[in-house]
Amino acid sequence: MTARASLLLPSGVCYDLHSLRVGATTPAMFHPARDFEGLIAKGSPEEQLLAQIDFERLPRHIAIIMDGNGRWAGMRSLPRVAGHRAGIAAVRDVVEASARLGCQVLTLYAFSVENWKRPRREVDTLMGLLREYLKKELDTLQTNNIAFNVIGRMDELSPTIQRELQEGMEATRGNTGLLFNIALSYGGRAEIVDAVNRILAERPASGSPRAPVDEAAFSRYLYTAGQPDPDLLIRTSGELRISNFLLWQIAYAEIWVTETLWPDFRKRELLQAIVDYQKRERRYGRVAGSEPEPVGLSPGKVTV
Ligand code: FPP
Repeated sequence: MTARASLLLPSGVCYDLHSLRVGATTPAMFHPARDFEGLIAKGSPEEQLLAQIDFERLPRHIAIIMDGNGRWAGMRSLPRVAGHRAGIAAVRDVVEASARLGCQVLTLYAFSVENWKRPRREVDTLMGLLREYLKKELDTLQTNNIAFNVIGRMDELSPTIQRELQEGMEATRGNTGLLFNIALSYGGRAEIVDAVNRILAERPASGSPRAPVDEAAFSRYLYTAGQPDPDLLIRTSGELRISNFLLWQIAYAEIWVTETLWPDFRKRELLQAIVDYQKRERRYGRVAGSEPEPVGLSPGKVTV
């Protein structure tokens, strides 16, 4: 079990706070130790969005349904797989931005249990892109103190890919910044069924009386055991669906949908989503004005 704190890059180079004051309402909104050098250009719309973010209230876990790759390609008369390839740039940008902002967990929905029904060529391309991503990005993950993790039915992937994913997880296991979950052969219902079966397997059918399972105990059997539930769920391409993603975990997530297609999604949209998220009142079923209880674990206790 690894405790993860907010990422503070070792470089020690801090962004000029005075240039970040555009749009800020209080100086407390800045986090002097975070390093945005090279991430946010001065005078850019991103800088204005950054200035509106309260770093004390960042979403601990951001989950993203990356959608619209096929449409992005179709609009350019390209094959669908070209959209997936273009989507890698968005993955890179969002992973690094989330780490530098100090988010604890980012989960990207890369391949669902239902996606196996896509044409063979498309599935093969997606798997190839995944391998390519891991090979090329491992150094960046290490530099940014990011721990890479897979959630889903990993055993349904090819043995070669399983081995490479395992190596990526092991190589980054000690990193204490962002936990980057990639959902592969993932389904929310499949995850719940897998959890139930794990519980059943651990409990003998007869013998001593069995204690009832409560919500906290059940969560410990999910792929995301030990992680805070998503505070913010982002979906690109304008579709208003959950698509079998993190069904248990998103019970109280704030949902943010953009018309932007995934290959065009960048840190600007991510920052906009966080700014909008921070304007929402999260009541967790209570009445307005009362102190809401965060769902999931307390900050700084992300474990895998
Ligand atoms: C949905 O778009 C997207 C996917 C099924 C795959 C997402 C994968 C990537 C961005 C690349 C691989 C990721 C990593 C982390 C290496 P769609 O094809 O359903 O688009 P459409 O709805 O426009 O057809």
